[in-house]
Amino acid sequence: MSLTKEELQELVRNKLGNRPLLVVSNREPYIHVFAGSQVRCQVPASGLTVALDPVMRACGGIWIAHGSGNADREVVDEKNRVAVPPQEPSYTLRRIWLSKEEEEGYYLGFSNEALWPLCHIAYTPPTFDEAHWNMYQRVNRKFAEAVLDETEDNEAFVFIQDYHLALLSRMIKEKNPRLVTAQFWHIPWPNPEAFRICPWGREILHGLLGNDLLGFHIRYHCDNFLDTVRLLLEARVDRERSQVTYGGKTTLVRPYPISVDFHRIAQEAARPEVEKEMEQIQQRWDTGDKFVGIGIDRLDYTKGIPHRLKALDKFLTKYPEYLGRIVFFQLGEPSRVHIKRYKELNAEIEDLVEEINWKYESDEWKPVILLREHLPPSTLMAFNRLADFCIVSSLHDGMNLVAKEFVSSRIDEDGVLILSHFTGAARELNEAVLINPYATDEFAEAIKTAIEMPPEQRQARMRKLRQVVAQNNIYRWAGDIISQLADLKS
Ligand code: G6P
Repeated sequence: MSLTKEELQELVRNKLGNRPLLVVSNREPYIHVFAGSQVRCQVPASGLTVALDPVMRACGGIWIAHGSGNADREVVDEKNRVAVPPQEPSYTLRRIWLSKEEEEGYYLGFSNEALWPLCHIAYTPPTFDEAHWNMYQRVNRKFAEAVLDETEDNEAFVFIQDYHLALLSRMIKEKNPRLVTAQFWHIPWPNPEAFRICPWGREILHGLLGNDLLGFHIRYHCDNFLDTVRLLLEARVDRERSQVTYGGKTTLVRPYPISVDFHRIAQEAARPEVEKEMEQIQQRWDTGDKFVGIGIDRLDYTKGIPHRLKALDKFLTKYPEYLGRIVFFQLGEPSRVHIKRYKELNAEIEDLVEEINWKYESDEWKPVILLREHLPPSTLMAFNRLADFCIVSSLHDGMNLVAKEFVSSRIDEDGVLILSHFTGAARELNEAVLINPYATDEFAEAIKTAIEMPPEQRQARMRKLRQVVAQNNIYRWAGDIISQLADLKS
């Protein structure tokens, strides 16, 4: 059953009463940056923050996160708090400051060079460094102090996000047992054989089992987690009830497929500013009479961007009748650029784009346009609306909300989604053209299928996709988690 924003608000009032709601994540939902001497507020490229911001707008509360913008300190009060979103403040963002050393060890090091590749099957090996692990523990403690400062000795619901904060629930509950915690793991959970190479795997599991409720996107990741616990800990694993009892405490493990705010995206996509941007894009890139394809990603090696460029290359070789008639926009915000693997990926993408353009371009036409910069939501929406097809070709992805944003923004009920089988989203969005990003020939055929799909079929499929996303929206996701948590403790 779908849930509206108002219904979620009511559910939270009924279920939580006057117990406050705190969200804790590494990435913050709003980043303040200097643009010359002005301070500008940006929305980061993060599925996690895109999904949770509407929930916090609806429910109010405090969101604790790392203050990573170079102007973040300019706008906070003496408790490092700022009301957000800037245009219509509805909740409080409390920022935590990290030193360069902490950021390197906890964020770049343990979170993104160890846990991220450990959990994604993308053939980038994880690196485990004891100094990074020590810093990870130290920074989790820093987040714990901020939570405890906000909650004092009171009851509260703490909703912890992702792999950066695996140790947090236990740390805060040791100091304040009246806290109730849920944690959502936004990335896949690997099978036990893959996970056991982590030298601190037991400590990670011990930390996560401090939670009352642990959520993953899909049942498969829950089962992998349960199997991992069975292999590595002395714990009672109940597959049927999907729960673990460890050290006398029970943690429920449940699937909750995350989503987006379908109606708000649809409303914003209809704004005249977006339509104006669509016209500007068409003029600037001369796409009026051409097929337009898009890929919108944080530039990450799990997203399969080189794979999609190779498929595009194959498509143009096999079907030269499309030369001059198609433009593919690869939009992407650089990410985690201090990590070597990400630097290599950027260079690889640049080389591939150059190579493809050189091979096929004419005086008036280039097949691929690479825009590697931060683009505002209205511009991304304009691209979503303009595209004949959108490619999401992740090698492995917990959910992938770019796919759901594309679908939500298609108020014209048109456009084709080409989607990797290896995303959580593929389990729900089965009217997309599903692909294996590693199978270049099939992938190239899928591009042809998307371009040549008869309009009635395209529209029928998009209508079904829109029904799915409208139904399983972000308010329902949050409502399911909050209800489960509150029922546990009532
Ligand atoms: C994934 C993670 C999020 C993260 C996002 C962006 O979606 O699950 O936790 O915020 O990537 O990555 P970044 O490192 O820039 O926060």
